[in-house]
Amino acid sequence: MDIEHPLTGGNATASVVRVGATVRKPWTAKTALVRDFLEHVRARGVDAPAPLGRDDRGRQILEFVPGAEPGVLDADDLHRIGRLIRSIHDAASSFPFQETDAWDVLLPAPDEPELICHGDLTPWNLIVGERWVFIDWDGAGPSTRLWDLAYSASAFALNDPAQDPEEVRLRLAALVDGYDADDRMRAALPAMMARRTRAMHRMLERAHERGDEPWGSMYVEGHGAHWRAVAEYVSTHESVWRDSLLRPAR
Ligand SMILES: Nc1ncnc2c1ncn2[C@@H]1O[C@H](COP(=O)(O)OP(=O)(O)O)[C@@H](O)[C@H]1O
Ligand SMILES: [Mg+2]
Repeated sequence: MDIEHPLTGGNATASVVRVGATVRKPWTAKTALVRDFLEHVRARGVDAPAPLGRDDRGRQILEFVPGAEPGVLDADDLHRIGRLIRSIHDAASSFPFQETDAWDVLLPAPDEPELICHGDLTPWNLIVGERWVFIDWDGAGPSTRLWDLAYSASAFALNDPAQDPEEVRLRLAALVDGYDADDRMRAALPAMMARRTRAMHRMLERAHERGDEPWGSMYVEGHGAHWRAVAEYVSTHESVWRDSLLRPAR
């Protein structure tokens, strides 16, 4: 029998395992929808784990992507990640969807979605190796480019709210340059980051009040305090970042 190696990098899904060159994750009500979406973006040039069907225990089988979570990312890396996010959005924009589809999204989602987004394009779902690949597409659902990018920007550019805001400005600039964001998006991004990070804090707080797991425990184990600090930090600096993102960065 093939050996099952537990994969522990994620927060949300119990029992993610590697078996040989594959990953096994629970099959849920939305897995078929996510598989169609994954196949759509892969067919349009996005490098994402290949969905490989269902195993004899009913779990989804995905391609195992070799590599590791990213370490310290410099401006060139963030530029590359911005480009990667843009290519995902562009490929996803032609995927047909209806809000009535069973996306059942856990993370906060915006009103008036315009396309299906991964929803969690963050360092903790990026594998860096010979290929740079976003994994963990199970949270995909209706969203907007701005909302999705705002979450990525918060996660990649200011994961540490004690950082110098000037440093964050440079990291944001590299990311939006890589994305090739237009002026409308640049002008709106910092305020959207403030909304997105506040929504993240609120979602964890509500889960805690209701006893929804694993989010409720994550709230008290540091994630709640983290997102509150990030949200306050973004609110303090968003107008300065907005003005500078509208000027050519480098
Ligand atoms: N396709 C994959 N290739 C390589 N590693 C993976 C893959 N899918 C998951 N992993 C590893 O397993 C961890 C948890 O899987 P993930 O799909 O992110 O679950 P969660 O929903 O818990 O975040 C990841 O952080 C990563 O280390
Ligand atoms: Mg994950």
